[in-house]
Amino acid sequence: MTTYDFHSAETRDQPFALFHQMRDHDPVYLTDFGYWYVSRYDDVTRLLRDTRLTSGQGVPDSFGLTEGPLRDIMDTWMMALDGPAHTKSRGLVSRAFTPRAVESLRAPVKALAQELVGALGARGEGDIIDALAFPLPMEVTRMLFGVERALWDREITALFDRGSASVDYVEAMTVLAEFLSDYIPAHRATAGTDLFTALSSPDADGNVLSDLEQVANAVLLVTAGFETTMSLITNAVRTLLLHPDQVELLRADQSLVRSAVDEALRFEPAALFTTRFATEQIEVAGGVIPAGSNVMFSSIAANRDPARYPDPDRFDITRTDIRPVTFGGGVHVCIGASLARMEAEVAIATLFGELPGLRLADPVCHTFQGANPSVRRPETLRVTIDR
Ligand code: HEM
Repeated sequence: MTTYDFHSAETRDQPFALFHQMRDHDPVYLTDFGYWYVSRYDDVTRLLRDTRLTSGQGVPDSFGLTEGPLRDIMDTWMMALDGPAHTKSRGLVSRAFTPRAVESLRAPVKALAQELVGALGARGEGDIIDALAFPLPMEVTRMLFGVERALWDREITALFDRGSASVDYVEAMTVLAEFLSDYIPAHRATAGTDLFTALSSPDADGNVLSDLEQVANAVLLVTAGFETTMSLITNAVRTLLLHPDQVELLRADQSLVRSAVDEALRFEPAALFTTRFATEQIEVAGGVIPAGSNVMFSSIAANRDPARYPDPDRFDITRTDIRPVTFGGGVHVCIGASLARMEAEVAIATLFGELPGLRLADPVCHTFQGANPSVRRPETLRVTIDR
């Protein structure tokens, strides 16, 4: 059987050949780090909904976190729960992610995108991550929590700001958890945002999150929400700029922005994997995953499965029926998917609508970040605006 080097710099930068080979030849594969990889689209979408698989520990495992206060938080947030405990946390928090709540953010997100894109246009050049992809979701996350801007910038933005070279995520999440542990109890009586209310107030049946659950889910919402969305925006801009024919199509018909975002989620997935735990033996793709195994679902492999998408390595914003597995699936499917899509749609429409002279300053933008192993985006994305 082939051995795959999942952790080399080459795989990080150019993962597609490896995942194509794995999906074609080893569609269920035991890795040297003890996880079983499942990579065919049909298997992934089916098993994400299979109740013999419970929540996974992919995030703490990817950081090597086995104990301590941060691990306690990761064991308490909804992503780590199953059954009624998961239903309770998810039901309470999802009150802040109704279509109406997401739509109410569109106008402020548009205003912010215009401000950021306007500043980039005035400078005539810059890094898309610093100029747009980082500040936009960071500000949306601040708005969700209703934290005063100067305090948020000092305590949270600074933690994740790429200006300080590479971010130590374990350190950043620890400080974030400490901040939220103080902030939430001190503000829940007065804070007026939907998210704060959803985290801290009981539902009609009297269900309510404990103090630890409130902090744990708040940490999840910040970390799951901003970096993935930042990566989606970055990947979408990069992929479009590498495909000028697709930019032309988008400029000619702006309603294509929705499928452009979906196609970017498929083609360059911002989240690289989703994980589960097999409580029973699972037969899949001619192999057997033993009971008690950790299972990983590859977005890169599944999203480019030729059995699901014709000509999968072609970036085509006019594709129909794009359903990437980038947001996971089943009961744990990303709670913020429509918010992330809306942010990316607004960012892309504004950027390409307002800067016709936008182009890559460095067409070789192929070095991808490795500080957060579950997320994919280039380290930098420098652009120039021709006048
Ligand atoms: C492009 C942006 C995003 C991507 C790619 C992404 C991806 C994911 C993935 C793969 C999962 C796990 C799904 C599963 O296990 O089946 C997930 C779960 C989750 N995401 Fe996102 N996410 C994004 C944006 C957001 C945003 C904006 C928020 C909220 C502000 C958010 C909050 C969550 C939460 C709370 C969960 C846990 C859901 C549960 O366990 O029931 N995500 N996301």
